[in-house]
Amino acid sequence: MRLLVTGGAGYVGSVVAAQLVEAGHEVTVLDDLSTGHQDAVPEGARFVQKCITEARDELDGMDAVLHFAAKSLVGESVAEPGLYWSNNLGGTLALLDAMRERGVGRIVFSSTAATYGEPERSPIEESDPTRPTNPYGATKLAVDTALTAFARVRELGAVSLRYFNVAGAYGRYRERHMVETHLIPNVLKVATGERESVSVFGTDYPTADGTCVRDYIHVSDLARAHLLALAAIEPGEHRIYNLGSGTGFSVQEVISVCREVTGHEIPAVVGERRPGDPAVLVASSARIERELGWKAERPALRDIVSDAWQALSGKA
Ligand code: UFG
Repeated sequence: MRLLVTGGAGYVGSVVAAQLVEAGHEVTVLDDLSTGHQDAVPEGARFVQKCITEARDELDGMDAVLHFAAKSLVGESVAEPGLYWSNNLGGTLALLDAMRERGVGRIVFSSTAATYGEPERSPIEESDPTRPTNPYGATKLAVDTALTAFARVRELGAVSLRYFNVAGAYGRYRERHMVETHLIPNVLKVATGERESVSVFGTDYPTADGTCVRDYIHVSDLARAHLLALAAIEPGEHRIYNLGSGTGFSVQEVISVCREVTGHEIPAVVGERRPGDPAVLVASSARIERELGWKAERPALRDIVSDAWQALSGKA
């Protein structure tokens, strides 16, 4: 297929673009490089430096769009909601309009667990209430809502994938955020000497060891789900799938695994809770397993951390 991958110079987008190229698709990456890296665009993909509101001319002849380009920092979204609404919702609506104009009727959308907010039960299923607790989650939910409505009237075929905590690396493709807020890369940066210690944001949560529990999914497993989603798109239908490994690990457990994998003592300093963090976020991925036959191939946290470490320490 001929595919446009927006945000394909970012972490998840670059891994998906690489897997699409490997599967024999003709891939164009569109990225404004506001947070992405040009050297993350895989060999064999065409690269266009543009933002999503300028995607129109790149859509001619495309069979589908995989849409990753977005602002994705929860804290920044609270401080600058306008940036998130205009980029994530406004930008996506412009992209959807351009797709309609150029006759491109299929999209795979990068959604998030942040659409659910504070969960009522664990693991979270797709039918559970969506009550985002920050503008980032609200903008992603707004796009999901728009996709459902557009699918009905426009014969658009869409699949939203709601990621839980993505980590790990795929060969040389790894997480490289300019402002790193995520736990695993921050812990590993202590082992490389880039940071002196890692902060544990709160030890008084109602969990076994008092730290927050998250569901970590290997970026390679996550990326594979996009290829399955692409093949499953039906015109007039919008499907939503959670993507996690189905098992929760606490912040302390993650730090312990990172110590084992790196052989570094990784000093941890207990700090205050980070505002807006739910105690436990674990996905039920039963729907995508049942309907698309997806299964995590590298669900073990040790493998996820180990792959992230290999790529970060230059051994991948
Ligand atoms: N944490 C620390 N120290 C750090 C970084 C994180 O203790 O230096 C803790 C956080 O408080 C949280 C856990 O580690 O309890 C995981 O934090 P991350 O920032 O790695 O991930 P989040 O669970 O906050 O965020 C993820 C995605 C978001 C998405 C969110 C859904 O990265 O994009 O899940 O709630 F919005």
